[in-house]
Amino acid sequence: MAFPVHRMRRLRASEGLRSLVRETTLNPGQLILPLFVCPGEGVRREIGAMPGNYQLSVDELVRECAEAQALGVGGVMLFGLPETKDEMASGAYAEDGIVQRAVRALKRELKRLVVITDVCNCEYTSHGHCGKIVDGEVDNDTTLEWLALAAVSHARAGADMVAPSDMMDGRVAAIRAALDAAGFSNTPILAYAAKFASVFYGPFREAAESAPQFGDRRGYQMDPPNAREALREIELDIEEGADMVMIKPALPYLDIICRARERFDVPLAAYQVSGEFSMIVAAARNGWIDRDRAMIESLVAIRRAGAQIILTYFAKDVARLLD
Ligand code: PBG
Repeated sequence: MAFPVHRMRRLRASEGLRSLVRETTLNPGQLILPLFVCPGEGVRREIGAMPGNYQLSVDELVRECAEAQALGVGGVMLFGLPETKDEMASGAYAEDGIVQRAVRALKRELKRLVVITDVCNCEYTSHGHCGKIVDGEVDNDTTLEWLALAAVSHARAGADMVAPSDMMDGRVAAIRAALDAAGFSNTPILAYAAKFASVFYGPFREAAESAPQFGDRRGYQMDPPNAREALREIELDIEEGADMVMIKPALPYLDIICRARERFDVPLAAYQVSGEFSMIVAAARNGWIDRDRAMIESLVAIRRAGAQIILTYFAKDVARLLD
């Protein structure tokens, strides 16, 4: 027998063949674009560490979302910058809070767009932590009450889904119970189930003005070396009623995505976070890497690991490129 019989290169010989045997696809309809909404009118303030991303007033947000929808992006995830912050995160659950107003406007103008809201307190507290501070620590169970109020207010405004990102224990159960009691038993929960205390959130904290004023988030977000613990977090969130679960960040945690995909059958999302985005953009700006190819390769890797849905600041760029 002539050597070699198997020539793996045969199926790589042309784009047609490569396309035929391609195992993983990227579909803009399964990408979610995170957006930052701020007070005012006509505001479109670029975020220094996240070129091409903006703090948007509600009117500009509607414009941005119309474009995303026209491009076929699967949905948007909203983060809010309130007028004022306080110890009680009251802007997070105010009926006329910034996110609540944004959701109402979006549901009025763009009925088909899937609008998901981030449910957390760190953008609304004066100290930048994700909940109520008691003796220098975030108090879990009081924070659950705030989260439940916020989730219900988002649902009442018309959110298609709520996504708690705080990492308090028991928040999915608390939010599910509150939604059901308020008549929103059909509002799904996307749990940021395995969210690590990551350095890659740095640019986001500029965007959302949510950097903690003291300490860090290691007392509630996960310790990066822990994989088995991540699976337990996911399992608990599913038991508590999460309809979908998320792993965050994405690229540095592909092993967790892969293991979660094998173990759980709920839709699995991954968040390509701000730092992952900014690294690619910064390297491309220096001429060190090809922006589009790095964008696609990183997102394909996240899909290949097993994420069905990806939250990414590249969502519109991908949709444009694949069009
Ligand atoms: C809020 C929240 C954060 C991110 C999403 N939701 C920041 C944090 O936990 O400090 C980060 C997203 C990103 O970096 O793109 N808790």
